[in-house]
Amino acid sequence: MSHSKIYMEALKSDIRKALANKKAFACPIAMRVAWHASGTYDKNDGSGGSDGATMRFEPEISDDANEGLLIVRDMLREVKEKYPELSEADIWTLAGSLAIEFMGGPVVPHRFGRTDDPDGSRCPENGRLPDASQGADHLRDVFYRMGFDDRDIVALSGGHTVGRCHKVRSGYDGPWTHNSLEFDNSYFKNLVELQWKPREWDGEFQFTDVETETLVMLPTDMALIEDDEFRPYAELYARDQDAFFNDFANAYARLMSLGCPEECDPTAEVPAAVEETDTRSAEFREFAMHGSVEYMKRIAAESDVHAAEPISGRTALHKAAFWGHEEAVDYLVNDCELDVNVQDYNGDTALHDAARFGHYNIAKTLLDGGADPSITNQLGQDVATLARAYNKTDIAELATQTTPTRPMPAV
Ligand code: HEM
Repeated sequence: MSHSKIYMEALKSDIRKALANKKAFACPIAMRVAWHASGTYDKNDGSGGSDGATMRFEPEISDDANEGLLIVRDMLREVKEKYPELSEADIWTLAGSLAIEFMGGPVVPHRFGRTDDPDGSRCPENGRLPDASQGADHLRDVFYRMGFDDRDIVALSGGHTVGRCHKVRSGYDGPWTHNSLEFDNSYFKNLVELQWKPREWDGEFQFTDVETETLVMLPTDMALIEDDEFRPYAELYARDQDAFFNDFANAYARLMSLGCPEECDPTAEVPAAVEETDTRSAEFREFAMHGSVEYMKRIAAESDVHAAEPISGRTALHKAAFWGHEEAVDYLVNDCELDVNVQDYNGDTALHDAARFGHYNIAKTLLDGGADPSITNQLGQDVATLARAYNKTDIAELATQTTPTRPMPAV
């Protein structure tokens, strides 16, 4: 799926608003959700991974490692409602990648194409995510299973440069860095340069820094400086933030697409953009959008007046109805005889668009022209339901009264 720059900017801004607002700053946990959705992947049989958004179902939803994580799903619910064409699986992985960027980290390439499973039948068994109480061997078992190598393991562990542990979620407590909402290489600096000792407390066994006794390292974090193969990478990232950013962005992007359809792979060749080859028809739709009926008539003969915009599936009728151009709609329905029931990428018909913005006369023209008000869009709204949601009660009433006059099939 390819999206325009404007669409992506709007989506990014909506995700930012959902994750960072006056109530909460949820970037670290969003990043963790995306990693936990992806980190169940097993390269041996292709099971697990972010495709399907299986974390919504049992048993994955109850994996101890996922305790408290689904709050992010609710935070992103409005994004899902606004962009029903995107799967939750895609929204989670995109939100995770953007969260890193929002916190000052590297730009992580992301591609769409995941779908949402209807149930938990593809859920992997619980226990595939790493156990923080263990050491280097365990990290290798878990991350090699996903197809990563030692360098990737160290780079990905650098995700702990943001966020913190919460006793109620994991039994551990505290942040890894003093600036835990900023994505930089201070996790590695702390790991390599500070002195660490076991913390004396009533929670899980963890380490704390000798100097301030406010920071945390988990046993798996300590493995990165205790293991001879891991340590050189931890030292590299401690002195060279660019190296960390490069390796992290690369590994995190691959992590997000494990077990996903090929089109999600950010390292694959960029698919050719959906190109508009028929410029005359595009021009016709543009005139319809501005209600320039005279210009529409001038070029109608040389254009395919029925053609939908490739990227959105929207016809000239959608565009004229959306912006309330009565004369243009009348011309398109009655002279050009456009199909009034074509649905765009959101499942909206031209009648949905007219109803949303309260264009009563247009709704009437469309209904007289055979528009079916019972067609539902991707949010499951027929025209009356949508009109009521937008307080357009006159149109809701009109839609309820109208029985569709679809042509009868020939016998
Ligand atoms: C290497 C094995 C890993 C282990 C054992 C591990 C374990 C943990 C644990 C126990 C917590 C504390 C959760 C809480 O109490 O709220 C945590 C938090 C976190 N982890 Fe990991 N993790 C690992 C790898 C990763 C990776 C690969 C990433 C991302 C690239 C990541 C990102 C995070 C983030 C951002 C938080 C903070 C979440 C928050 O502030 O709510 N972790 N991790």
